[in-house]
Amino acid sequence: MQFHMTAALAAAVMAFFAGQAQAQGAYLESIRHSGNWDKHNLKGETTPVMLLKPAEETVEIPKDGPFIKTFNGTNFKEIMRFAEQHNVDLPFVFSNPAPNKGKGEGMCVLAGASNLNQDTSVSFKREDTNGMLYVPQNTSALCGNFLNAPGKKSYNGRVQVMFGCNEKCEKCAGAGEAKHTLFEWMYQTKPGHEDVEEMYSNLSNVDGYSANANVTVYNKTMGALSFRNINATLDQVKKVCPRSNLWKEGNVFGCKSDCKLTGMEKHCCVGEWAERFGPKACRESSNFLAELCPDAYSWPYGDNGVVDYNGAPKAVHAIFTPIN
Ligand SMILES: *[C@@H]1O[C@H](CO)[C@@H](O)[C@H](O)[C@H]1NC(C)=O
Ligand SMILES: *[C@@H]1O[C@H](CO)[C@@H](O)[C@H](O)[C@H]1NC(C)=O
Ligand SMILES: *[C@@H]1O[C@H](CO)[C@@H](O)[C@H](O)[C@H]1NC(C)=O
Ligand SMILES: *[C@@H]1O[C@H](CO)[C@@H](O)[C@H](O)[C@H]1NC(C)=O
Ligand SMILES: *[C@@H]1O[C@H](CO)[C@@H](O)[C@H](O)[C@H]1NC(C)=O
Ligand SMILES: *[C@@H]1O[C@H](CO)[C@@H](O)[C@H](O)[C@H]1NC(C)=O
Repeated sequence: MQFHMTAALAAAVMAFFAGQAQAQGAYLESIRHSGNWDKHNLKGETTPVMLLKPAEETVEIPKDGPFIKTFNGTNFKEIMRFAEQHNVDLPFVFSNPAPNKGKGEGMCVLAGASNLNQDTSVSFKREDTNGMLYVPQNTSALCGNFLNAPGKKSYNGRVQVMFGCNEKCEKCAGAGEAKHTLFEWMYQTKPGHEDVEEMYSNLSNVDGYSANANVTVYNKTMGALSFRNINATLDQVKKVCPRSNLWKEGNVFGCKSDCKLTGMEKHCCVGEWAERFGPKACRESSNFLAELCPDAYSWPYGDNGVVDYNGAPKAVHAIFTPIN
């Protein structure tokens, strides 16, 4: 099913975005500044994700449209049983396990998927949470049925999380700056194979290291196809991250990449630098991030084997935790 916005809905969306200018602007900003995403921008237009509240078991899951449902706990198998019962297409589950040692109980997820064939996109968000999705401690959010266009598929998506937020996803640590730890993915019909779908995905600290992540891509029998984990401790961060790069608001919560810290073309592989030398000529930077998180990109175009390719992926589980 294709999503057409009615004028009233479009107006509501615009009004909503006006209120969320900062989060949404920051989101688009972060996309614009992330290297080879240029060709695959999430467009400004978005289709709001349908809202389902926890424990509303009677609410019908839309078969052909995106939805979010929250669950108590982080039991992926249980959530997948629900997803199977409701024939959910490509369930993405975000979990915020407990306890987070007082680092703000809530996690806010800023995520979306963009349909490259149609120039439309879906935001995974709740209406009242600053353009993000609030996932309280010891809960999970299931997002599904967002690949809703018939025919060949070509989608790009990204996920970033913030901690230390309140329930409205305001005042998150580092919220003033758009760039954080990212999970990025691309999902498409395999060229030349109409019936096969494939996914590329990676974790990236190119824009800064702000959260730990444990991401697994599953096949249809719930076997793990690929698995990535970044999981440094705050003590390790304080030891390895250069003093100038320590990312703090009061307390240290992450480590800035050189690109994020300096914004220099040679660190971010953009602008004249990239034009003159080609992006592949970009120098290594932020090696301290590679030391802390070998499973994630720490500088653009780094070729350290952190991209996963999976045929026939059926579900994704992303567990995020603050750096403790
Ligand atoms: C989740 O937990 C809350 C608080 O314990 C409870 O009120 C709610 O009914 C639970 N929801 C589900 C779906 O179990
Ligand atoms: C997390 O939630 C699950 C499901 O509601 C519950 O059984 C478990 O006790 C909770 N764990 C913590 C540490 O609160
Ligand atoms: C990570 O994956 C996304 C989606 O496939 C891709 O657009 C991005 O370029 C990748 N990141 C890097 C640093 O290559
Ligand atoms: C990552 O999550 C998977 C399950 O989703 C779990 O089996 C694994 O132990 C976790 N890895 C770490 C290092 O915590
Ligand atoms: C799913 O992956 C597991 C390995 O993690 C494998 O054993 C199983 O055969 C796969 N299932 C399918 C249907 O490919
Ligand atoms: C991170 O590592 C610690 C032990 O070093 C483990 O207890 C925890 O489950 C891991 N968390 C994730 C999200 O992988």
